Amino acid sequence: MKQVNQIEKNAKRVNKNLNSKLKGNPKELYDAAGHLIVHGGKRLRPYMVIKSCQLLGGKTSNAMYPASAVEMIHNFTLVHDDIMDNDEMRHGVPTVHKKFGLPIAILAGDVLFSKAYQLITKSELSPNATNQLISRLAKACVDVCEGQLLDIKMAESKKIPTEPEYITMIGKKTAALFDVSCAMGAICATNKDGDISNLSSFGRNLGIAFQITDDLIGVMGDSKITRKPVGNDLREGKKSLPILMAIKLAKGKDKKIILKVFGNSKATKKNLNEAVNVIRTLGIEKSVRNQAFRYAEKAQKSLSSYSGTFKKDLVTLLDFVVKRSV
Ligand code: IPE
Ligand code: IPE
Ligand code: MG
Ligand code: MG
Repeated sequence: MKQVNQIEKNAKRVNKNLNSKLKGNPKELYDAAGHLIVHGGKRLRPYMVIKSCQLLGGKTSNAMYPASAVEMIHNFTLVHDDIMDNDEMRHGVPTVHKKFGLPIAILAGDVLFSKAYQLITKSELSPNATNQLISRLAKACVDVCEGQLLDIKMAESKKIPTEPEYITMIGKKTAALFDVSCAMGAICATNKDGDISNLSSFGRNLGIAFQITDDLIGVMGDSKITRKPVGNDLREGKKSLPILMAIKLAKGKDKKIILKVFGNSKATKKNLNEAVNVIRTLGIEKSVRNQAFRYAEKAQKSLSSYSGTFKKDLVTLLDFVVKRSV
């Protein structure tokens, strides 16, 4: 609970920043760009920028623009991801392309992407630090694109990927942005390579743990809590770790029920629910969570040379991420 309050406190400051930057004409374009942001989101990535900066003794105010920029990039990836994943709901509301149409959704994503870079140039850091922020964020965005393509190609393919292939994919599509969030926070505080690399590694492993847990929630979570549909990963044929484990474990009739909807764009809600219910009985949660814990432990090791309240905040975040309920 305390953790959630901390994240929310930081989120309020970030929200102010975001809302003021996402205004303009044509109004519809900015409404579309801000649509997911005003309806929710945990603001985990800005929290990581701010806490990483604080951990290394940096001024919080130096991290505010980079924190908002990272959240804009995150929302850009969400808008485009929902188009690619044919998803209709997020944050409890229709996705941007469902509400505003495809052309505006593409442009809304582009606005978020561009404004993020504009924001970074406003931070009062040295030109060298600003350069680093821009270049690292750009690299992370390229990684996200590569990871998203891997995700799509894996979904299209009949081949079952290995676990390392799955980890490479989520490392790019998700962990790259967590990694850069922490690295950017570090750069706001210091130019020491060792510190930047420790924080980068913390963010990367936390990001992998986050996505593994998110994939678990995506296949057996409660959509009332997640405010996004459960079962869509199955319909889209996503090769997520819990789905791969479920297919491997299920036998006979159970396996048939899962395979009937897996990668079947015409699967009915009823059949999807049936498959989700079967998966709930397979007992995969423990092994999936164990994998997430392994990465969380790696993340925690990257912080072994630090101490104090900001370290505690980052470690508590780690705990929150892997223990999120289904
Ligand atoms: C969703 O991320 C996209 C993934 C990487 C799985 P978040 O769960 O952090 O998104 P918010 O909280 O809705 O913004
Ligand atoms: C997460 O994608 C990664 C990005 C958004 C870049 P997913 O497709 O796994 O996440 P959700 O389930 O739509 O949030
Ligand atoms: Mg998606
Ligand atoms: Mg996706």
